Amino acid sequence: MGASWKRTHDCGELRAAHAGATVVLNGWVNKRRDHGGIYFLDLRDRYGITQIVLPQKVAGDVKLGPEYVLSVRGKVTLRDGANINRERPTGEIEIAVEHVEVLSSSPVPPFPIEDEIDTALDLRLRYRYLDLRRGSLQRNLIHRSKFIQAMRRAFEREGFLDIETPILTKATPEGARDYLVPSRVHPGEFYALPQSPQIFKQLLMVSGLDKYFQVARCFRDEDLRADRQPEFTQLDMEMSFVDEEDIFGTWERVLQATMREACGVELESPFPRMTWDESMERFGVDKPDLRFGLELRDAKSWAADCEFQVFRNALAAGGRVMGITVPAALALSRKDITTLEDGAKALGAKGLAWWKAEKAGGAGPLAKFCVAPGSAERLMALMSASDGDTILFVADREAVVRKVLGDLRNQLGRKFSLAQSGTWKFTWVTSFPLFEWDEDSKRWFSAHHPFTAPVDWDLGGANADFAKLSSRAYDLVLNGWELGSGSVRIHRADVQQRIFEILGIGPEERQRKFGFLLEALSFGAPPHAGFALGLDRTSALTLGLDNIRDVIAFPKTASAADLMCGAPSQVAPEQLAEVHVRTAVEAQVAPEPKA
Ligand code: AMO
Ligand code: AMP
Repeated sequence: MGASWKRTHDCGELRAAHAGATVVLNGWVNKRRDHGGIYFLDLRDRYGITQIVLPQKVAGDVKLGPEYVLSVRGKVTLRDGANINRERPTGEIEIAVEHVEVLSSSPVPPFPIEDEIDTALDLRLRYRYLDLRRGSLQRNLIHRSKFIQAMRRAFEREGFLDIETPILTKATPEGARDYLVPSRVHPGEFYALPQSPQIFKQLLMVSGLDKYFQVARCFRDEDLRADRQPEFTQLDMEMSFVDEEDIFGTWERVLQATMREACGVELESPFPRMTWDESMERFGVDKPDLRFGLELRDAKSWAADCEFQVFRNALAAGGRVMGITVPAALALSRKDITTLEDGAKALGAKGLAWWKAEKAGGAGPLAKFCVAPGSAERLMALMSASDGDTILFVADREAVVRKVLGDLRNQLGRKFSLAQSGTWKFTWVTSFPLFEWDEDSKRWFSAHHPFTAPVDWDLGGANADFAKLSSRAYDLVLNGWELGSGSVRIHRADVQQRIFEILGIGPEERQRKFGFLLEALSFGAPPHAGFALGLDRTSALTLGLDNIRDVIAFPKTASAADLMCGAPSQVAPEQLAEVHVRTAVEAQVAPEPKA
C-alpha cells in the first residue's frame, strides 16, 4: 500500500466550492444502497458523513459491508437540485469514485452505529469501542475535551502550575473506601489509590508552590449512582495566602472563560452565595436548583396554636412544621397528592397534610382546622398562598422535614417542568457545619474532610457544642447538582491535631496515618485554600445529560465492572504469591495462563 490511500480531506469537510477537485477520503461504511450497477455509500468519520457514488465496474469484486473501512479516490461532483441533502453540511456534493481500496473489513456490528439506539446498556458497554463510533457519544467526548482544554488555558492565564501527584499513595480520607494495591517489595503492605490529591496539594503549598492545579483522576470504592463512578476526574486546585473570596473569584473567572469558549455561554458574575443554613431553610437541601421557586415556608406561628394535634406535638417536641405552596396554575389532583404522600412516607415522613387554600376555609385534611375567624387568612399570608393554591405540609424533626420537602420540591419541579434547560444558575453554598454526628458508630465525622478550617480556630473553647461549629467549606452548585467542593484549610498543626482528636483518631493512628502531614504543617505552612470541580459532572450537565457515564470513554457499570475488558478479574496464583496475597474466595474459574 503506497501513501495514495491517505485522506486529503475528512468526511465532513467538502462543500460545493470543492466541485471538480480530486480527493481521497477515508472512513467507515455507514450505509449502503444498491441502485442497479451503482452503489451509494455513506462514508463516515468523526467529522461527518459524505455520500460516495461507486459504480459496480469500479468496485469490481470488492466486498463492502457495514463498518468496512475504505479509502476512496474520486471527483467531487455537485448533486442536482432534487438530490441535495439540506440536513447535512456535505449534502450539496458527492464523490464520483474512480478507485476504492478496502483498508479493513468487519463482521456485522452487534448494534447499529446511529445516534439514537435502544440497545441494552450492557451490550453497548461490552462493545464500547463501537458504541463510541456513534455521533452522539463522539460529540460528548469532543465537548468534554474542549471544556477541559479551555479550563486548562484559563488556569494557565491565572498563573497556576500544573503539577502531578502520585497515584500509588496512602489513603486520603474523603469518606469513601479505598482501592488498595498490594506491594511486591514490601510484603503485607499496600498502597491506596488516591480518593483525591488533597494532602499532596496541601504539601505543595507548604513547599511554596503557591498556585497549583491538576486534571486529577480520583478513585473511590463507593456505591455508584448516575452521578458517581468509581474513578472520575477532578479539576483540582489550591492557592496560598488566600481566603474564600480569592477562590470564588478565580473560579468565577475560569468558569466564565470556559463556558464562553466551550459552550458559547456568557455567565454573570459574581455567582450568588448563600450559607448552608439558608439553603437548608429555603430549599431543604444543600444543592438547590435555583431555576424555580416553590421555596419551603415555616408554618410555626400558625401551627403553634392550631387545632391539629400532629402539628402542635411536632413543635412541642422541638420539631418543625413547614410547607410548600403550589400555585393554582400547577394543577395537583388528589391522585397526585396521594402519590406525593406515598413518596414522602417512603422518605420517613409520617404523612403529608394538604390544604387547598381559600379564605372561606378551603378543602383537604387541614380545612377543618382553618375555620376559626382569621385562621385561613393568617395561614395564607404565612405561606404566601392565594385562593386556589395547594399547600403541602410536613411536621416532624427538622432533618426529616427538610429531607422530605427538599425532595418534594425537586419532584414538583420535574413534574411541572419548572426548571428550564439551557439556564445556568450557579451558586456558592458556604459555611457548612464542621462536624456531623453518626448515630451508628457514635462518633463525629468531618462534614467535608478533616483538613477543613473551622470558622473559630479555638473550636468553641472548653464546652463547645460540636454540632454547632461552622466550617469554612463551600460547594459550587449548578441547577441542583453539586459540581465541586473546597475549603479554607487548617494550616496550624495544633488545630489539625485537635480535629483528629475530636474525630476519635488516637495518637498512634494519627502518627501512622497523618504524621507526615502534621510534621509538614509545623514547618511554616502558609494559610491556604482550594477547591475541586467534578469534570465528569460538569461536562454532563453542560450537555444537558443526567448520567456521567455518557461523558466517560470507558465507564464502569453500577457494580463497578468493565464489561469490555472484563475487569475486575481473577489473577494467576503465582501473581498473587508475588504480591504476598492469599484470597479468602475460592477460585471460581481456572485463571487464564499468563502470557
Ligand atoms: P469532594 O469529595 O467533594 O472534594 O469531590 C469534589 C467533586 O468531585 C466530584 N465527585 C465525583 N464525580 C464522579 N464520581 C464520583 N464518585 C465523585 N465523587 C466526587 C463531585 C464533587 O463535588 N479534596 C476535596 C476537594 C477540596 O477540598 O479541594 C474533594 O475531593 O463533583
Ligand atoms: P390523620 O390524622 O393521621 O388522619 O392525618 C390527617 C392528615 O395529616 C393526613 O393527610 C396525613 O397525611 C397528615 N399527616 C399526618 N401526620 C403528619 C405529619 N407528621 N406531617 C404532615 N402531615 C401529617
